[in-house]
Formats: sequence, structure tokens, C-alpha cells
Amino acid sequence: MEWNKHPLAVLLAASLLSPLAQAKDPQTGQSTDQVAPEASTGLSQQQLITGSEWMIATANPYASQAGAEILKQGGNAIDAMVATQLVLGLTEPQSSGIGGGAFLVYWDAEQEKLTTFDGRETAPLAVTPRLFQASDGTPLAFYDAVVGGRSVGTPGTVKLMWHTHQKLGKLAWRELFQPAIKLAKNGFTVSPRLAKLIDQDRERLQRWSSTRAYFFHEDGKPLQAGETLTNPAYADTLRRIAEHGASAFYQGDIAKDIVDTVRNAEGNPGVLSVMDLATYRVKERKPICAPYRQYQVCGMGPPSSGALTLGQILGMLSHYPLDKMGPEDVHSWRLLGDASRLAFADRGQYMADSDYVPMPTQGLLAQDYLEQRATLLKGDKALASVAPGQPAWTHAMRYAPDESLELPSTSHFSIVDRDRNVVSITTTIENGFGSRLMVRGFLLNNELTDFSFRSHADGQPIANRIEPGKRPRSSMAPTIVMKDNQPLLAIGSPGGSQIIGYVAKTLVGHLDWDLDLQQAINLPNMNNRFGAFELEQGTGAEQWAPKLEQLGFEIKVKDLNSGVQAIRIDGKRLSGAADPRREGEVLAQ
Ligand code: GLY
Repeated sequence: MEWNKHPLAVLLAASLLSPLAQAKDPQTGQSTDQVAPEASTGLSQQQLITGSEWMIATANPYASQAGAEILKQGGNAIDAMVATQLVLGLTEPQSSGIGGGAFLVYWDAEQEKLTTFDGRETAPLAVTPRLFQASDGTPLAFYDAVVGGRSVGTPGTVKLMWHTHQKLGKLAWRELFQPAIKLAKNGFTVSPRLAKLIDQDRERLQRWSSTRAYFFHEDGKPLQAGETLTNPAYADTLRRIAEHGASAFYQGDIAKDIVDTVRNAEGNPGVLSVMDLATYRVKERKPICAPYRQYQVCGMGPPSSGALTLGQILGMLSHYPLDKMGPEDVHSWRLLGDASRLAFADRGQYMADSDYVPMPTQGLLAQDYLEQRATLLKGDKALASVAPGQPAWTHAMRYAPDESLELPSTSHFSIVDRDRNVVSITTTIENGFGSRLMVRGFLLNNELTDFSFRSHADGQPIANRIEPGKRPRSSMAPTIVMKDNQPLLAIGSPGGSQIIGYVAKTLVGHLDWDLDLQQAINLPNMNNRFGAFELEQGTGAEQWAPKLEQLGFEIKVKDLNSGVQAIRIDGKRLSGAADPRREGEVLAQ
């Protein structure tokens, strides 16, 4: 289907033209100047979708279709996850793909077991602490590090799909590749978002010939929305992996081409080797669960900071009656913002790949610790200053504060199948278009720039410093919310370190303020990570600026482009929503 005829494209266009509705006081019916949950983004026409058999919510209609096709054929959530990811790598190539990594949170309905799979990229064995430093030890400028081979970590996504499919999949592996292979051969319609991002990134994308040849016409004109794009090289790569399994990617010709591309990236080569690819492992890890009111909010632990930081924010908020305060009380936003600042201070100090650095994982979520941190929020003004806390730990707390930069990127999708298995997966090649290096029809990640560029500060090590084999700290927060030991919600978002705030806001909107999932996603984004309250440009969030300033917050109005895809399970009834800020679609039966 052409993009401009797609129902979602029509809705987006219409909603961008519609003025923001004014909120009404529930008692008096009078208009107020406050945030109207339903109209807050101006994109409120995206509908909550319901179903009873299965549901899939992704950031791209082609990807949702592919997953739905597999679910209709009797595939389970893991099968659908594989087909969806392979299509996302084609139709939303800027965000995720087989050249990147992913975290999967999974509920196995038969075993009644929640688990997580870590398919995060690893640092090549040949890296040194100076990888992202100039010869005098100063950190490189961000994009000087990103564009080229230097930033490329060992991709994990193919192994994640393979490992989980071997363990949990139902349909034949090769069948799951057919939707993406067909689409890559026959072509897909370039979406407005992809076209816009190619245009915005044209200088960096043109630096490498294979990337240039894919995203631009011969005369240098970038691909336009509505054009048909084929990718025979990607179809061929997928055919090989479909036939021979993950080893076709991690060993042999494809692995060799990845390594050659990284090592020969002119001006900015990297150090990835065939050994890194051949030895890559997916890690199954226990989920990190944090209580929030009557729920358990469960997600990905280290190397992601997602579940711990989200759990800390919610743990602090649980000491305040947000349900009674509601979304129209500025103190609800003050509490969300300052709880987030406190959690981000701990994140910067302590969180990294705990297979490499000791971490106070238990201490960071301990009830007494979060109660103590929550008391800091008791006043009625913004916190004057924020510092990391001292969670219970046996290790000397001698890390220097983190300096990692994480810019918005990534994709999230959620799936529930007929048997009520649940997939919540956040997947990435890091920055938009990753390292900009393209090989055999897919982009390679720049995940290594999620490490701190400096390894030490003031004589102390930074937890998230680069080390051989280590996984860079992530903010990805694929989440499954449990109630009465059963899954209630699958949720997550792209957005770099903004992910955590996007998910926290949506959960508070849905669980405390009784907004349905669509309304909660539509609520304007208002995040506070490092001191400035960031308010979503062009939405009701801007109206909060004077009130938050009065409380002492510094304000930044900016694009806050979440991409929350969420599904709720109420026995037989499924309801799901996609973020109107992107091109997502929910399909169900
Ligand atoms: N690269 C995005 C993240 O891992 O948070």
C-alpha cells in the first residue's frame, strides 16, 4: 500500500492539522489552560485497538503485517518476533536491524515464567580504553566517533532471534524469513519518516558508497516518500540465514564482509574481528522486577539501565498519591521529573554491564533506600541539587560520574499470541542509521558510542567505560507489567535515554490516572533526566513551562519523539496502542 493512502498516514496528516483541544475542568466543565490528556499531542485520532486472539504493535505497518501473517499461520509470539524484526530492518532501517542488538522480555505462558534475553552488542576483543579518544586523551566529537567502523560492536540481533527461536519457536525458521525476503525483492514504499530522516542525514549517509547507492539516486537526490525501494542484497543475506541458521551470519562470507567493512572504513576504521562474531553469545538473564502499587514492573537488567532506573522512579513515586493528584496537578509532574533526576544520578554513577563491573543492583531497588530517596521529594519546589545516593553495597563506591551520550534512536514492539505468550522487545542499531556503514543490504550499528568516551575522571574509573567483550550500557526498557503473577502490559519505547521517561509517563498515565493505553501514550512527553525539564514541542506540555519554572525548574522545549507500542491483556480481551508520533500500527484478531 502506498504510504500516502495508508490509514495511519491519513490520520497523522489530519491530526497535524487539528488544533489542540482545550481541557475542561471535570467539575465545572470550564476550559482550563492545563494539559488535556486526550488532545495533548494533537495526534489523538490514533485509536485504541482491541482483539481477543492475538495482537501485535510495531513502529511500522509492514512489520506489523509480517508479524500478523505469522500469527495467523499459527506461529507463536517468538516466531512473529523474528518475522517482524526482519521486516523492520528493511522498512525502518534507520532504527534497528540484523546489524544491531536487542533486548527481549518474554513471558512463557505454559511455564508461567518471565525471562529476559540479552542480545546486546559487545565491544570487540581488540578495543582499548582509548578507542574514543584523540591522541591527547580528549574525547572525540560524537559524530566523529559514530560514523565509520570505530563504533561498530558485534551484532547480537541474529543470535537473539536464532537462540530464542531454537528454544521457544513453533514454525520452521526459514518460513519466518519469507515476508521480509519477498518485500526486499518486490520492494516497499518509502515512508515519510524514512524519507525525512534520509534527507536530514544526507551528509553522513553519503560518506560511504554502498550506503549512498542505497539511499540516494544516481544524481544525489535522496529517496522520496512514496517511492518503491527494493533491496536484493538484503534478500540474499536473509536467504542464507534462513537456510543455514545464525552461523551463516556469524561465520563465513557474511561475517568476513562485516569485518572487512568495519576495518576498511576509510578515515575511521574499527577493530571488529571474525573472532568477535564467531564467539558472540546471547545471555538469558533474570528479569529485574520492581513493585509499583499492586503491580510488578519487570524488565531488562544490566547491561541495560532501563528496568533499574524505571523501577527507581516508580519506587519513589509509590510514596505519593499520584492517582489522587492526577495529570492536571503540576506537582504530579514535579514528582515525576525529580524522581527521574534522582534515578538518573544513580544511573550515571553505578549502572553498566554488571558482568564487568560490580553494581549495587539489589541496593538500588531496596525499599528502604527508595523510601529514603523519596523523602527528598517532599517539598513543593524543584530539587535544588541532585546527587547519586548510597544504596546498600559491599563494594567501595568509587566510580566517577558517567559521561555517555545517548541520542534518540531505536524501535520497540510488543506481541501477544493465542497462547498468551508475551514478547516485549526493544531493538536498535543505536543512532539513526547506526554507523552509516552498509554491508550486504543492512546497516551496521554504532552501539559502542553508548560507552563513556572517557574511561576515568578525577582518577576514578567510570563504570560504563569500554572494555573488550563488555556490553555498552543501554537505556532500553522493554517491560512486562505483572499483576497477580500474570502479565498485564507489554510496553517499551525508542528514544535513547529518554526511553525511561517515556515509559514511566505512560505507565503512570495508564495505571494511576486511568487513561487507556492510547490516551496515556498521547499524553505529552515531559522528561527530566539531568536537571532541565524537557517539554514536548508543539503539545500541551508547553503550557506547563511557566508553572514548572515557578517551582524552580529550568525548561527546555524540544522534540520528544517517543515510539511507545503497548498491549494490555485482560483475560480474553486484548487492547493495544501505537505512538502517533511515529508510523506504528496495531493489528489484532
Ligand atoms: N542505543 C540505545 C540504547 O541502548 O539505549
